Amino acid sequence: MPIQFDAENRVFKLDSASTSYLLQIGPFDYLLHLYYGAKIPDTDLGYLAYTCRHASVCPRVTMDEPYFSKDLHRMEYSCNGCGDFRGSALSILRASGTADTDIKYVSHRISRGKPRLPGQPATYAAEDEADTLELLCRDEVSGAEVTLFYTVFANHGAMTRHTVVRNASEQPMELQRVMSTCVDFHDARDMDFIHLWGNWGRERTPERAPLLHGTQSVASKRGCSSHAHNPFVALCSHDATEESGDAYGFHLVYSGNFLASAEMDSDGGARVLLGINPEGFLWRLEPGESFCTPEAVMVYSDQGLGGMSRILHRLYRNNLCRGPWKNRERPILVNNWEATYFDFDEKKLYELAKTAADLGIEMLVMDDGWFGARNSERAGLGDWYVNENKLRGGLGRLTERINALGLKFGIWFEPEMVSRDSELFRRHPDWALQAPGRQMSIARHQYVLDMSRADVRDYLFGCMKQVLDHANIAYVKWDFNRSLTEVGSALLEAGRQQEVFHRYVLGLYELLERLLTAYPDLLLEGCASGGGRFDPAMLYYSPQIWTSDDTDAIERLDIQYGTSLCYPVSSMGAHVSACPNHQVRRTTPLKTRGDVALSGTFGYELDLGKLTDEEKEEVRRQCADYHKYYNVIHNGDLYRLISPWKDRARCAWSFVSPDRREALVTYVVMRGGVYERHYLRLCGLDPTLRYRVESSGQVLSGAALMNAGLCIPENLRDFTSRIIHLKAVD
Ligand code: GLA
Repeated sequence: MPIQFDAENRVFKLDSASTSYLLQIGPFDYLLHLYYGAKIPDTDLGYLAYTCRHASVCPRVTMDEPYFSKDLHRMEYSCNGCGDFRGSALSILRASGTADTDIKYVSHRISRGKPRLPGQPATYAAEDEADTLELLCRDEVSGAEVTLFYTVFANHGAMTRHTVVRNASEQPMELQRVMSTCVDFHDARDMDFIHLWGNWGRERTPERAPLLHGTQSVASKRGCSSHAHNPFVALCSHDATEESGDAYGFHLVYSGNFLASAEMDSDGGARVLLGINPEGFLWRLEPGESFCTPEAVMVYSDQGLGGMSRILHRLYRNNLCRGPWKNRERPILVNNWEATYFDFDEKKLYELAKTAADLGIEMLVMDDGWFGARNSERAGLGDWYVNENKLRGGLGRLTERINALGLKFGIWFEPEMVSRDSELFRRHPDWALQAPGRQMSIARHQYVLDMSRADVRDYLFGCMKQVLDHANIAYVKWDFNRSLTEVGSALLEAGRQQEVFHRYVLGLYELLERLLTAYPDLLLEGCASGGGRFDPAMLYYSPQIWTSDDTDAIERLDIQYGTSLCYPVSSMGAHVSACPNHQVRRTTPLKTRGDVALSGTFGYELDLGKLTDEEKEEVRRQCADYHKYYNVIHNGDLYRLISPWKDRARCAWSFVSPDRREALVTYVVMRGGVYERHYLRLCGLDPTLRYRVESSGQVLSGAALMNAGLCIPENLRDFTSRIIHLKAVD
């Protein structure tokens, strides 16, 4: 039984494929956290709950109970203002004007499968893949009913949590904080805190530091998950490496403002909180209304950060991405953005497609600039009709001609935005987010549409439908190029304006769902000035996301390596672009650009017509490699072998097929030198099998490859790369 209730000890035990999670109904029916980590058989872990007498500064519930204090105990879902002084998972402002909140266990339900989250993306599971525990709690004074949901997966070392709050009182109440998960670790003194920081063109850089007393946190207030931080944190033991040690990952399935924090208390315990950022959030619940948080994913591995990543990768590939593109080989695309920017017409696109077809590329993506008066970033967003001065003969004719070359056709939209200089903004200025009396901040000459409004969403759906119904379009790149400011909605009353950030995200999800319901075969690629909204929620709709606007192969080592901490390579948009690179002016060999982009959803973003014959041959080879290695790269397990941050000269990673009979190693030199031979120790192979190294014909045991290593040729020059393919011969 994956979920057990030990009635005698009043303990719940939740087992995923490789983890156990235990909690207990404690004194006064408060829920106490007992354990989260490697799988264990016991349920009688009540001894872990705090049982010492405590100082008088720690409030008690009553004078008769000397041992229990919410100040010290590991609480399962911490509440504000009633004696637990660490960060709160829940804070409810009630009609009295006070925010004291206090929930106790009432009842529980265990069921097969996993319930859906209404209106929100989440992982999903068939009946036999997962089990769910619902814990109903109540705050007797405010009348809030709080249901904590836990799902454990039978095939992954993963669990998910979310919370639903229902106002069961006769008075309105306001949610100040309602986190998706709260986990109290007993002892975190030997733990590190890892998060992914970044910027435009430099997304998702891992940073690791010892957990200190007090709170370490990352957050977004931008209205999107953001370039600056990802809604992901990990805790790992000080000694955790890529392949050994304890590693816990916490990831929020959400695309808006988030908060992820870890707080070490005076006892050396740590509380992890993850959920919607309480700053800029206040949600009114009328009597009878409910609020559902986004979902939090939690994973644990005793095989270090690599083990943690692989659990997340498998979970996201199998139980988050959905639709026909989940398992279908994605088309190799050429995107015209870095090839032409805004300067294109139907002839240029057709020429690009013709060369692409000749080289083995399978789809042309027409990027920004095909609509309205959009000839630069200054105008046109919102006016989603084809500019026939640019695309003479119209979109239908162009797509037909491109399809006739054997290529699919994809198109760019930035639905959530409106240019100040656009017909849409002139007609509906109130459709943009704005705060009364305050000048609207402008970014990239554009404002953000109020996605909380149904009329705005209807308009956008109508525009997209008009385009998608009149041309054969296989793919949409859904872009989002600025943060939200002066966040107010013209349709909402003053008392609900603090809900707009979250209502915006719910509106976005609704539109994405509507689009995919109407066009189920459409392949969506998410984008936000590169990877500014690379989060699990967007992965639910778009199985691939443009990883970064920085397309330089060497910069991409850092970016893709960091992104892989929690996202599978099958989700990372990666293109071969021109040299010198447009972002950093670096020149790298075409082979290296191809080798790096192969570890992603592969494509090109350059003027193919400018390639020499030799380069065209290389592109043909790369396209063939993409098909040859697709399975091992996209369905295999990732092992990070040499980190580009630790070793500033080299970077290496590998993929191993689930049956461990095939592996592919990528090795890139960032700074060449007079190296001796390098012996690269592989991971994840079967030690008892023998593998043939395709390039050399050598046959070596998995044990030798993992312990003695694979011999990498000496004297590799700056920015060169090798791809090494191994197959079992036994
Ligand atoms: C963003 C995207 C780019 C491109 C441009 C077009 O910056 O990240 O890939 O689509 O917009 O304006």
